Amino acid sequence: MLKTRYVITASLQLMVLSFFITTCSKKDTAAPPDLCLGVSYTIDYFKTESVGGANNGTIAINYPIGDTISYKLNNGTFQASRNFTNLAPGNYILTVKNQNNCTATITIAIFNYGPKYALVKQIISGYCGPCHYNGGNTAGKNFNTDSSVLFNWDRIKARAVDNVPTQMPAAPNAPLTAIDKQKITDWVNAGHRILD
Ligand code: HEC
Repeated sequence: MLKTRYVITASLQLMVLSFFITTCSKKDTAAPPDLCLGVSYTIDYFKTESVGGANNGTIAINYPIGDTISYKLNNGTFQASRNFTNLAPGNYILTVKNQNNCTATITIAIFNYGPKYALVKQIISGYCGPCHYNGGNTAGKNFNTDSSVLFNWDRIKARAVDNVPTQMPAAPNAPLTAIDKQKITDWVNAGHRILD
């Protein structure tokens, strides 16, 4: 009888002890909550290239923005402003950070444009959309990329300067002004390259 009671008490004690051991050890191994879990940013930005070796490229971040977000380029220091200016041509790693130090990065290339080519790009983005710009691909022509503009230089001149066989921008849109036509002609005559 005494023996049985002893066994019961002992096993009860063991149970209590193991309960404390498990609860204690659980507490010890619990990891701190990951504040960045599920936080991800698809960075959206607008850039302009550096023109004529002036180191005047720009980056403006459109997303994410807000009081708690900061930005840096390469190994620079974080800044609150979402604008970067006076950028030399090259590849930049943009890092965005929120108030919990969660970060996201993206690589952005700033190109070196010649001054004449920069003017032609302005005309194309200003007058050739929506048909051949952004999502537009009318007649299989989309001029978003530099390579597509460089490749189509002769067709761009024929249609937008010489109006052969018909004008571009397509009627009933207004044709380009004489000044804008001259910008395309100057670029073509200079060699129709990215650095012209
Ligand atoms: C409102 C829509 C519209 C705009 C804006 C427009 N185009 Fe077009 N483009 C068309 C259509 C439609 C065609 C196909 C019919 C044709 O070739 O005439 C075309 C065809 C073309 C082609 C391919 C045919 C060829 O001759 O090689 C080129 C190149 C072109 N456009 C250049 C331009 C340029 C450069 C601009 C801007 C300065 C421009 N387009 C603006 C509608 C547009």
